[in-house]
Amino acid sequence: MSNLRTERILSVHHWNESLFTFRTTRDPGLRFENGQFVMIGLEVEGRPLTRAYSIASPNYEEHLEFFSIKVPDGPLTSRLQHLQEGDEIVVSKKPTGTLVLHDLHPGKHLYLLSTGTGLAPFMSVIQDPETYERFEKVILVHGVRTASELAYSDFITRELPDNEFFGDQVREKLIYYPTVTRERFRNMGRVTDLIESGKLFHDIGLAPLHPARDRVMICGSQAMITDTCKLLDARNFRVSHRIGEPGDYVIERAFVEK
Ligand code: A2P
Repeated sequence: MSNLRTERILSVHHWNESLFTFRTTRDPGLRFENGQFVMIGLEVEGRPLTRAYSIASPNYEEHLEFFSIKVPDGPLTSRLQHLQEGDEIVVSKKPTGTLVLHDLHPGKHLYLLSTGTGLAPFMSVIQDPETYERFEKVILVHGVRTASELAYSDFITRELPDNEFFGDQVREKLIYYPTVTRERFRNMGRVTDLIESGKLFHDIGLAPLHPARDRVMICGSQAMITDTCKLLDARNFRVSHRIGEPGDYVIERAFVEK
C-alpha cells in the first residue's frame, strides 16, 4: 500500500518572485502535531518526486498549508511553483519531526528562531492554543535577506491577534521580530548576531537567553542552525537528542534544496 495520498490544490499565493504558499485538501484521517513535517510532491514521469515540507497550518484546520521557495532548476519546486487551484499533489500519510512543544521542558519564554522558509513550522506553532497555555511569552524571530521575504507578516500582526478563540492570548504573549540583512529595515542583522550582541533582548524588553527560563525552537539553513546551536550550547542549553526526549531546545533544518 502506498504511503502517499493524492490531494488537491485549494489556493496558491505568491509572496514575491522566490517564495509562495499553497493550500491543499487534507485527509480527515491525517493526524499531526503542530510543527511537524510531511513528504509532499508530484508524479513525474509516473513516479512520485517528493520532498519534506513543514506543515504551516495548525492541526485543527481542514486544509494543509505549505510555504516554499522557488528554485529555478530545483527538481520539485521548479514544477510546484506552477501549481494552480484544482491540480493534484501527493502528501505522505505519516507526519513526523522534532519541532514540537512536547519535546521541550517546561519554561517561561519560548523563542522560535527562523530564517527563510524555516518560518513554516512556526506558523503552525503560533496558531496552537497550547503554545500560549505553556508559555508566558512567545517570541517569533524571522530573519530574511530582504523585506519582501517577510511572508506572513500581515497575518501575524493583523489577523492572528483577532483570532476569535485565542486572539487575546496572542496580543498578550506573542512578540514578532522580523529582521532583514540585505536592505534597510526597522530591525536589521542576523538572528545570531542579534542574540550575541543582546540587541534582540534590548529591543523586545526581555532578559538575555537563560536555560532556567527560556526554551528555543530553531529552523533555518544548516549554517544558521550550527551557529545558533553554538550560542545556546555556550549558554548551557541542552538540546533534545531525539523525538520523545525533552530538552531546552529543539532543531530542524529548513528543507531548502528543492
Ligand atoms: P545574510 O544576508 O547575512 O546571509 P538564506 O536565504 O541564505 O537562507 O538567508 C536567510 C537569512 O538568514 C538571511 O538574513 C541571512 O543573512 C541569514 N543567515 C544566513 N546564514 C546565517 C547563519 N549562519 N546564522 C544566522 N543567520 C544566517
